[in-house]
Amino acid sequence: MDTASTSPSQRRLFFYVAPNASEREQQAAQFIASLLRRDKEAAWTEALGQMAELDSYEGAAICKVLGYNLRPEALPALECDSYHSTLLGPWSLEVIDSACYEELCERIAMRGKLESKHGEEAALQFEQECLAQGQPFVGKDDALVCFSTEGASLSLSTSGKMKPMLLDFEQVAYRQRLLRGGRLKEAVARACMQGLGERVRIFDATAGLGRESMILAHAGAQVFSFERQIPIWVILADALLRAQTSRFFPFTLPHLLPVGTIKDFAAFAAFATAGGAAKAATATAAETAAEAAAEAATEAATSAMPDVIYYDPMFPERESSALVKKEMVFFKKLIGADKDTVEFLEQAVALATKRVVVKRPSSAPQMVSAHVEPSHEVDGGQCRFDCYKPLNSAL
Ligand SMILES: C[S@@+](CC[C@H](N)C(=O)[O-])C[C@H]1O[C@@H](n2cnc3c(N)ncnc32)[C@H](O)[C@@H]1O
Repeated sequence: MDTASTSPSQRRLFFYVAPNASEREQQAAQFIASLLRRDKEAAWTEALGQMAELDSYEGAAICKVLGYNLRPEALPALECDSYHSTLLGPWSLEVIDSACYEELCERIAMRGKLESKHGEEAALQFEQECLAQGQPFVGKDDALVCFSTEGASLSLSTSGKMKPMLLDFEQVAYRQRLLRGGRLKEAVARACMQGLGERVRIFDATAGLGRESMILAHAGAQVFSFERQIPIWVILADALLRAQTSRFFPFTLPHLLPVGTIKDFAAFAAFATAGGAAKAATATAAETAAEAAAEAATEAATSAMPDVIYYDPMFPERESSALVKKEMVFFKKLIGADKDTVEFLEQAVALATKRVVVKRPSSAPQMVSAHVEPSHEVDGGQCRFDCYKPLNSAL
């Protein structure tokens, strides 16, 4: 594997499946890699094709697109080979074998030791030496995902002594918090759902580790989760697959969409409109084609829209917070701050029909743009949920 040939703007996601991983994890790894390997356009075409069969936008279609009906025989075998695809944006996926994995772990440990003993510069020098010699290395912008029996865990070479991050919804503390909560006990659920009736349809635009997607789903919402950072998406996809067969979560779990943002959803909405137009072609003589087309398009498009969009990006303010949790330190190293927050807030208020909710540190100012400002807020203790009225509010 030529690890030195990667351009600096490219980030590598090393992808390792331990030979002793359970069959379930091996299947999950294969499934997740096959989703990542697909060309983005092909993935959307397939998604749209499946929706065409259903003739309308349905959550079930999205589940199918994501392959939640896991069929191992349909999955391509993993190969130890580097792979580059447009789907991955700045990321290239490199499936590695056991020998390479051992080497990478050794070097991550060595880098961590150097950093804590001699500082960041010594660690960087070691990194550069490894790369110059063509040795595989998880550089400061790269990530390593390992599928073992416990699930998929994520390591960064810059996370020092921190253990790899494994996302496990079955963890006692997490599941107790989740299942103890009543429908609207959690502030995020009140902010997103209060006053909006049953089965609120929510897009969690920033799924991250999926905690809040799970809280909202447990509170009874129909949740669609979006995540654009591939390493995070991988461990979340894996954790959700495991949660599906867990006895602890007897409610409809969040549906994780293919890697991307709420902007990609526009493709679904456009399709729904096109589907409406197709329906119009078969309209009865009593209806004019134009009227039927307009009606069907509106119906299809609005049925595709979310009631609520929940937005919890990485803000720079979090970096200086003393309360920053281990996971957020990890996120900070991997992602940094999301710099396009105003753009996405504006996208969200244009897409949602009933409410947009933005999570903010409690001491941070509200997010404002020329077009929107919050209508009210919900206190979340150390954080605050700012609620905005969508531009085309259905309320
Ligand atoms: C603060 S974390 C979210 C934590 C999440 N609420 C949870 O409960 O675990 C922010 C996450 O959103 C992702 N993100 C930020 N902006 C995004 C966008 N516009 N579209 C998709 N994902 C985004 C980041 O990659 C990161 O994983």
